[in-house]
Amino acid sequence: MSTRPVYPGANAPAAGKLPITELAEMKSRGDKIVMVTAYDAPSARLADAAGVDLILVGDSAAMVVLGHDSTVPATLDEMLVLVRAATRGAKRPLVVADMPFGTFQVSDEKAVENAIRLVKEGGAEAVKLEGGRAVASRVRALAAAGIPVMGHIGLTPQTATALGGFKAQGRTAAKAAELYEDALALEAAGCFAIVLEAVPAEVAERVTEALRVPSIGIGAGSSCDGQVLVWHDMLGLYDGRAPRFVKRYADLAGAITSALASYAEEVRGGRFPESQHTYSIPEDELALFEAEVGAVRRAAR
Ligand code: KIV
Repeated sequence: MSTRPVYPGANAPAAGKLPITELAEMKSRGDKIVMVTAYDAPSARLADAAGVDLILVGDSAAMVVLGHDSTVPATLDEMLVLVRAATRGAKRPLVVADMPFGTFQVSDEKAVENAIRLVKEGGAEAVKLEGGRAVASRVRALAAAGIPVMGHIGLTPQTATALGGFKAQGRTAAKAAELYEDALALEAAGCFAIVLEAVPAEVAERVTEALRVPSIGIGAGSSCDGQVLVWHDMLGLYDGRAPRFVKRYADLAGAITSALASYAEEVRGGRFPESQHTYSIPEDELALFEAEVGAVRRAAR
């Protein structure tokens, strides 16, 4: 009998992590998959505590965290900082890192190189990239490198200009059929799940039925195997116009603004800090300190 200890492999998931294979099981059981974006450790911790299954460190960070007008400016280095922070906070949820624009368009090799950084330096369990059949070879290359890949079709914000703006996709028979083909091509290439964004509910339903891997909808109706929302949209933290598919579950901007206004008012009125927010010094040390201050003052005269 061997006495050698059994070490987990370099790629073994951390203890307590949701196994990625569980997602397909959830689809076949009809259990809905819950995904939300998060971009830092405290948010990932809260999502974990709430029982979320997947955390997406989306390149939506470019807009909701970094203040850009689109997702295009997000860089790999910026994403890495956010992915590292989120992975530190997420114990059970799998963390999916978005591949920002420019990190997978050039070649399969570049895509693999950049995805490796997100997994190895960022600690992500999987990556997501936007596009249909056009990125199938990227998906194959990443899957062959052992990196789980999530697809993303429909409204793909990185190429919104080419799509004619931020609007629903697949609203003609021909476009819906293209979307259907894209989904099947991504699955065949090795995606473990596919995001369907801003797609008519009926089209998303057909796509979901045709796929063996789970569909994760955002503005794609309730038949998808899971749902994803952007943290700042659903919690009322984004001041831009939210798309129609967003449901706001809280008004945190209102709560934060009113807390900050109370703080400002108390500081200006001398009501903060109070004694319980203040440190004290023992009487004898204070007397010595006062004597020292007196001596310094006298010497300065
Ligand atoms: O970047 C992001 O947050 C996304 C979601 C909208 C799916 O891609």
